[in-house]
This record gives sequence, structure tokens and C-alpha cells, in this order.
Amino acid sequence: MQNKGYPANWLYELKQKNNIVSIIGKYVHLDKKGGKYWACCPFHNEKTPSFTVSEDEGFFYCFGCKESGDVISFIQKYESCDFTQAVEILAKNANMEIPKFTGDNDAVEKKQTRERVLKLLDLTYKHYQQNLYTSDAKPAQEYLKKRGFTRHELEDFKIGYSKNWTDLIDYLRLQGFTYKEMLDAGVAQNKNDHYYDVMAERLVFPIFNSFNECIGFSARVLEKTDFAKYKNTAETIVFQKGRVVFGINLLKELKKRGGLDKIIIVEGQIDVIAMHRAGFKSTVACMGTALTKENAKELKKLSNNVVLCFDGDEAGIKATIRSIDILKEEGFNVLIASIPDKHDPDEILREKGKGELEKIISSALPITDFLINNELKKFNLLNADEKSKFVKNALEIISKLGLSSQEDIYLEKLRNISSVPIDILRRDLSKLKKGYIKKTQEKMSENVLIGRENGNIRAIRFILSSLIFKKNFVNNHIDYKKLLPRHVEIVELAMKSIPVSSYYDYFNVDENPLLRDCLGMDFSAFGDGGKRYFDECVWLVASQELIRKQNELAEKFKTCESKEERSQIAVKLNGISSALREKKLEEFYVREQD
Ligand code: UTP
Ligand code: MN
Repeated sequence: MQNKGYPANWLYELKQKNNIVSIIGKYVHLDKKGGKYWACCPFHNEKTPSFTVSEDEGFFYCFGCKESGDVISFIQKYESCDFTQAVEILAKNANMEIPKFTGDNDAVEKKQTRERVLKLLDLTYKHYQQNLYTSDAKPAQEYLKKRGFTRHELEDFKIGYSKNWTDLIDYLRLQGFTYKEMLDAGVAQNKNDHYYDVMAERLVFPIFNSFNECIGFSARVLEKTDFAKYKNTAETIVFQKGRVVFGINLLKELKKRGGLDKIIIVEGQIDVIAMHRAGFKSTVACMGTALTKENAKELKKLSNNVVLCFDGDEAGIKATIRSIDILKEEGFNVLIASIPDKHDPDEILREKGKGELEKIISSALPITDFLINNELKKFNLLNADEKSKFVKNALEIISKLGLSSQEDIYLEKLRNISSVPIDILRRDLSKLKKGYIKKTQEKMSENVLIGRENGNIRAIRFILSSLIFKKNFVNNHIDYKKLLPRHVEIVELAMKSIPVSSYYDYFNVDENPLLRDCLGMDFSAFGDGGKRYFDECVWLVASQELIRKQNELAEKFKTCESKEERSQIAVKLNGISSALREKKLEEFYVREQD
């Protein structure tokens, strides 16, 4: 059982005291319909609800994206936290004391390391922060003044300074931390058995997760050197680069206060601070690299609207295009603000003022306009050949729109830019789209073939779900473990009559697509025919098992030399033939001695 370090009884009580409907109801609006609660799924983008919560069974399941789990994994998924953190949130909610963690050694060690690392990072950022106001920090203070940081900003973003190579190490030693812990947290590096501050002599921006825990740092050199301008914490147990969103803690606060309509994403932390200064409090950054799927998922919980505002250089445009696809896939409404002249938001603010930045954000363009403009920059329309390439690329972009009315609007724009007559543009567009349709059709017929092959899997899935949810379908003579030898574990659990929420304790359901689909089975689609369909499925699986045995025996018969054995095989083969002919299931019956 996956208790992950907590006593089973205690976890059971935790789930009992945190009613899944009231917990999930805090995050999404639930409607009761039939025996279930329904909502638009918080884990994918949709307009009609396919996310269900079963109160009695204590689990949720989305028919759209197939996300499922118990109340603990809901918190894990929604809050992007691990099991332990989710348990802590729920324990607090139910006023339950958390028992001493007693998991397998690995789990206990991991939890302890994590807690120590977070404690260490907490003290570290506060230490850096204190440094900034001492006389040792003159260079940093001057730098910050030059760049226009106010005292408020320094405090809001908890900006700090690392004085030298050893100050932090000495401080942490005094606080009782080992060198290993400093390495684990990513704040120290080891050279010839001496330990040094990774961020030495840099201006330090601490990075917080959405729970306001410091998970790492990004630190800037004060003067131009040969070293990288920014140094970020290396991957640690709490700092995973692809998941980091600088400013997510402030964004979550803003959302709680109801002040969040759109998220603005910029490239760097200095830009985040500049944007906040200009009044755009919902600005975050994704640490230099383009936005990841994980970033998008985390942001989606806070708002559906994003304005991308990356630097106006080539790297910024590339990052924008990559981010657009990721954001679209998560269902965001995306606008793109174009920063001119290879600038970044911080430079715009300092050189041209707040008004200019406001203008740039408010004139952010929809994706299609941005992409067409971007193509336009690449070609010289006075050259016929280049112009036809531009038109082709622009039509490709338009062909992805999906709505004819939208197509019309952009065809009009394209005509204005290129002065190619609209009928011709329209004809080329429909040619392009026919090409896509053909491809889709080919793909669909492939899927039909796969579907047929999967008939057996479908039957297995229906049998297993019935064993879990429809005990009245079950035939007590049949040993379902014999029928489904590859799914013995699920069958055994199903026979125990435990609530579905407990399945998540025994299995990692996210990594077991078969079980996940079983838990989400929609029996209402079968009306009164469920039991009959169940029997058909059982026979389908049984007959295939019989045929498999038949082939095996026939093979054996061919090579067998003992006469006696051959006649035994023949008897068995006869039995199987008649079972297949008469649809007999005795082969799978529970044997007396079992
Ligand atoms: P920028 O070079 O655009 O930094 O990198 P910036 O925020 O405008 O900073 P200033 O104005 O030069 O002070 C954008 C982001 O890319 C990451 C950092 O997260 C930075 O904020 N980066 C940049 C690195 O990780 N390493 C680098 O060497 C440079
Ligand atoms: Mn900058």
C-alpha cells in the first residue's frame, strides 16, 4: 500500500474528515446531477462540464482529460504540491494533528531533507536580505539606486546581497547546517574540500513557490565580467527549472484579493519588478528559458488570459512563438505585446516612461496578427517571389483559425497588405485546407483499425469496472483471476468491496491507464443492457483465452512423441472445442479446493 509514510488508519480518517465534495467545491463550482457532482474540469480547458466527483466513493474523474484521484491527489494536482504538502493542507483543514512520519526509509529521508532544505533556504534569503542594508553592501546599494529600485520594491521582492565567498557558509554553519545540506539546497559549492557561496558577490533575487517558500535564487553580477550575467540555483529537490515561475507567490496573493484579470509574462526578474513599478502587478517571468507546459498548467489555475511580453530581440520572438503553442494547448486566451527596438520592459520604463509601457500592453495583438506581422518582417514584398512566399506563410497561419468568420477578417487584412485579390486568396486557402482534411481522414481510418484491435482491451476494461462498481453483474462460480491472469491485483482489490478512494492508496492510478479508465466507466451509456454486455465481454475474453490454449495444445500435440500424452492432449482439445462451440465457461470456474 502506498501510505507514503502515514499510518493507514490516520489517512483513512483524513479522507473521511475532508469530504471530497466540500474540498473540491472550494476550488470549482460543482453542480449536482444524477448521483454525481459536475464541473468544468480545472485540469483542462472546456466549456461543458465533464469533470465529476463521486461523494460516496470519494474520488473525482474527468471524462475529457481522464485526470482522476482522491481528495489528496486533487490537492496535489490543483496546488502543484507533493503528497506530504497535500496531506498537511488537509490535516490543517480538518484540525488533525499530523502523526510522526514513518514511511519507508527513502520516503522519510526525502521528507526530512526537503524540510531541512526549505529551512536552510529560508534563513539564507533572510541573511542575504539583511546584508543588503549593511555597509559591506555599498556596491549593491549603488547599483540598485542607479537602476531605480525603491526601498518598497527591495522589500516586496526580498532582494538581497551576497557579501563574499564565505560569509553565508559561516552563517549557516553557526545555524547548525552541514555542508551536505548546503550542497543539497544548492547554495554551496565544493572546491578542494572548501565550501563557497554559489552566489558570491552578486545581487540576489530569491525565488518563491506559490506557497511562499523560498526554493532557490537567481543572482546578478554588479559589474560587467566574463562570468554569466545571471547565475541560477542548480536543480535541487525543491528547485526544478522547468517549474519555476518568478513572482507566482505574488500572483496568487493578487488572485486571492480578486485583482487578477490577466497574467503578463516577461523574460527576466528585473522586468517583473519594472512592470510592478508601472502598475502591472500581475507580471511574472519564467527564468530566461521559454515557458514550459508545467508553467502553463500552474498559471492556468490563476487566470485564462495571458499577455506575452518578451524582449524585442530575435531570442524573444523565438521564445514567444514557442510559448504560444504551449499556451494555446492549455486553453489560454493569448495576446502578444511587441516591445520595439530589441528592448525589454525595464528599458522601456526607464527610457520612455510608464505611459509607453501602458501603450504597449494595451495594444497587444491576438496570436494571428502577431504571427502574420512576424512573417511580414521576414520578406520584401517588392520582390514577387518573396511576396508569394509571404502570402503562402500567412495563409498557413489563417488556415489554423477554424472559424470562417475569422478567416474572412484575416483574408481581408492579408489582401490589404499584399494586394492579392480576395478571391484568389480564398481559393488558395481552401486548397491548403483540403490538404489537411485528407491527412486527418487518413489518420482517422488508422484509428478505426486500432479501435478494432482493442476490442479485447475494451472487454477487459468493462469486466474490471463491473467488478468494482456493479457487484450484481458478477457470477460467483467464475474465478475472475483465472479469466484475467494479467490483472490479478485489480481483481483482488475489486473483490474486497472497499471505497474507490482507497484504490489510490494501492495503485499509482496516473500511471495505470487501464485502472484509470475503469474508475471512470460511465455505466449510464449501457442503460439496462449492462449485465448482458458484461456477459458478452466475459465470453469474448474467455473465448480468446480458450483459443490461446487451443493453439498451445495443438502445437504440443504436433511435437509430442508419447502416445499416452497425445491422447490426453486430444481429450483436452476436444473439451476446448466443445466449450467454444457451446459457449461453456467451466474452464474458468472456481475449483472446489480453491
Ligand atoms: P536578460 O539578460 O534579459 O536580463 O535575461 P534582464 O532581466 O533584462 O536583466 P538586466 O536588465 O540585464 O539586469 C532575462 C532572464 O534570463 C535569465 C535570467 O532569469 C534573466 O532574468 N538569464 C539571463 C540567465 O539565467 N542567465 C544569464 O546569464 C542571463
Ligand atoms: Mn534588462
